[in-house]
Amino acid sequence: MSEAYEKLQNCLKCIREKTDFRPEMALILGSGLGDYAESIDIRAEVSYHDIEGFPVSTVPGHKGRFVFGYVKQVPVIVMQGRVHYYEGYAMEDVVLPTRLMGMLGAKKLLVTNAAGGINFDFAPGDFMLITDHISTMVPNPLLGANLGELGPRFPDMSEVYSRRMGTIVKAEAEKLGISLKEGVYLQLTGPSYETPAEIRMFRNLGADAVGMSTVCETIAARHMGMEICGISCITNLAAGMSVKALNHAEVQETADRVAKQFKELVTAVVGQI
Ligand code: 6GU
Repeated sequence: MSEAYEKLQNCLKCIREKTDFRPEMALILGSGLGDYAESIDIRAEVSYHDIEGFPVSTVPGHKGRFVFGYVKQVPVIVMQGRVHYYEGYAMEDVVLPTRLMGMLGAKKLLVTNAAGGINFDFAPGDFMLITDHISTMVPNPLLGANLGELGPRFPDMSEVYSRRMGTIVKAEAEKLGISLKEGVYLQLTGPSYETPAEIRMFRNLGADAVGMSTVCETIAARHMGMEICGISCITNLAAGMSVKALNHAEVQETADRVAKQFKELVTAVVGQI
């Protein structure tokens, strides 16, 4: 057994000592949805601190626990607090929580994030169904010895974001009267935002939105064969697209402004999955 897999097994054991809950779906929720876990029918929770070897977020205000429970009768595990590559973790640790949720039984993954809009048709406050991604500017989370227990050496990435789940997201957004865009998400390491020249380049490469998360997690999840759906909240326009400078406060403000709608959409989607 490789060291990386042994670490995962050890984390799994720490969790299994606390709960035998078997989630069907994993939720990784980005900015604005930090307190979603508190709104579900909670059956168990495990603090990241109680999981030996688990990466613990350095971002202030991030809670740091797994919450197990039900959303519309669907057994879920929610990651309350996420780790980002820009915090300095090894990529292997950034995707460890995702892998663990898969090992706990989750066959499906719903992931959300806050992103900068690159597409000229997008406005702050819009939601975007992630139809595909560009990951080539961040190290691949599967680098190194393959964890054969989890998946193959060369996993297919031709449909990372499930068309089936995408159809559900679109239908539920329509029912709720939420306007939903679609597009390609590009992950960068951050933590600096991009320059206007970089944003022009990314637009020419086919990206519709940029952010600092998600793709590494979805690659790790897809490696394990999980079915994935991703939704971005466009919190701001990317650099050079408006006269304003970028700042995290604006990202947070927009995320908070649309959080209620975002939560309704997540709940509706989980209920149909
Ligand atoms: Cl403009 N860029 C990146 N990398 N992440 C973001 C963002 C922009 N807006 C929200 N998150």
